[in-house]
Amino acid sequence: MENKEIELEFSIKSGAPEKQRTACIVVGVFENRKLSGPAIDIDHASDGYLSDILRGGDMDGKAGSTLLLHRVPNILADRVLLVGLGKERDFHEKAYRDAISRAVKTLRDTGSMDAVITLSEIPVRKRDATWNIEQAVISAHEALYRFLTMKSKPDETRRPLKRLTFAVSRRGELKFGEAGLARGLAIAHGIDLAKDLGNTPSNICTPEYLAAEAQKVAKAHGFGCEVLDQAACEKLAMGAFLSVGKGSDKPPRFIVLKHEGGAKNEKPVVLIGKAVTFDAGGISLKPAPDMDEMTYDMSGGGAVIGAFRAIGELGLPLNVIGLVPACENLPDAEANKPGDIITSMSGQTIEILNTDAEGRLLLCDSLTYAERFEPDAVVDLATLTGACVIALGAHPSALFSNHDPLAREIEHAADQAWDRVWRMPLWEDYQEQLKSSHADMANIGGRPAGSVTAACFLSRFAKKYHWAHLDIAGTAYKGGRDKTSTGRPVSLLVHFLLNRAEK
Ligand code: BES
Ligand code: MN
Ligand code: ZN
Repeated sequence: MENKEIELEFSIKSGAPEKQRTACIVVGVFENRKLSGPAIDIDHASDGYLSDILRGGDMDGKAGSTLLLHRVPNILADRVLLVGLGKERDFHEKAYRDAISRAVKTLRDTGSMDAVITLSEIPVRKRDATWNIEQAVISAHEALYRFLTMKSKPDETRRPLKRLTFAVSRRGELKFGEAGLARGLAIAHGIDLAKDLGNTPSNICTPEYLAAEAQKVAKAHGFGCEVLDQAACEKLAMGAFLSVGKGSDKPPRFIVLKHEGGAKNEKPVVLIGKAVTFDAGGISLKPAPDMDEMTYDMSGGGAVIGAFRAIGELGLPLNVIGLVPACENLPDAEANKPGDIITSMSGQTIEILNTDAEGRLLLCDSLTYAERFEPDAVVDLATLTGACVIALGAHPSALFSNHDPLAREIEHAADQAWDRVWRMPLWEDYQEQLKSSHADMANIGGRPAGSVTAACFLSRFAKKYHWAHLDIAGTAYKGGRDKTSTGRPVSLLVHFLLNRAEK
């Protein structure tokens, strides 16, 4: 299915804002009518036209405000769009991204087909031109993203935006800007795919559908892709993973993506993404309100496939394996029942006290499967626990790791990508909450510290390598009327891998 309107083109340039021939030049204004550098240039060239307007009280630079001006004297652009930036001393990452997003949405709604955006020249503390441009491209993409494949009629944008040019402050910055542009585009394309997969409802986005999508990405970029069906997984004794899909008619798939961009003997990074294409809870059925949002329970898998698209576009010189265990969690005659005891691929037995704690059952067998690659590091991503949303909300993903240097690596990548994480404990003390009377462990640890005990459960299957777990239950999608996938944490993953490739 296609979700693409005309692909927006991006470029960068340096040069005087008043001399740009474009449908619209976008300049920033800080609170209390303080002009940004490019706005000062426009003001000078137009003999104080901007200062006059601001003095008149039409705009004072509050974050989120905009003012579109026509026929500004001595300016080659058809229009000038002023975008409020908020207080200058608060102009950090979030304010920067919000300003780009506001600018792009206003351009779309006011019918400009192309524009030069100078907001990307404005310094953000501790960030360089590469970062500014990369984030501008990602934020612009994000602002224009819509999921339209399921609408019967196309949306009626009058004159769609075709070309965006981001400014850098000096010629010398162009090469840094170019690097940011290439990265930003690859990441944006990866995020786009992760979002499309997440937003595609579960009656269409089945395990087989995900496998076909993974195969498409593999074909486009020359990755290896192997799809294990039920029988293949049975041969591997993936008893935990397979138990979850038994309540569904949709057959499970275990997807293996392979990017061999590094040296032959170099140990790979393994990325694992939970892909429950719908999580009704199984026999421990979830309540009806908001259950529709459990179509996003494949977001970890979607992020892995999205990250692979970005890896392919960037041609990363690194060996990366992607594992996506995909199935559906429904109640039915064959479904897991509370009290059932199953044997995982590792041989460890698990008492299923709650069939809704299914994500860890997919992941534990995937973690065992990952051993065969003798990985340098394994990172899993999963919309694993509601408790994680209670603990941290929608802003950071929860990070757990059995290896401090790996945790620091991920924290660093998350900061660079502005796709943030917050480290949580994985202390031995929590393990006893997983005790079971008859099996090696239970699949739930009670209400206290629910996201921690879920991670503790996984840690029992990740003893042979350095491992990190990201609980993305709060970050992978937004719920409610404007529900949508966010494509997180594709950007974090790509930065993590880029850093490793540059080492
Ligand atoms: N997919 C859910 C976790 C989830 C909940 C993600 C809300 C996003 C928003 C997971 O499979 C689940 O149901 N977890 C249970 C675990 C519990 C039974 C120990 C939960 O969090 O309620
Ligand atoms: Mn569940
Ligand atoms: Zn789930």
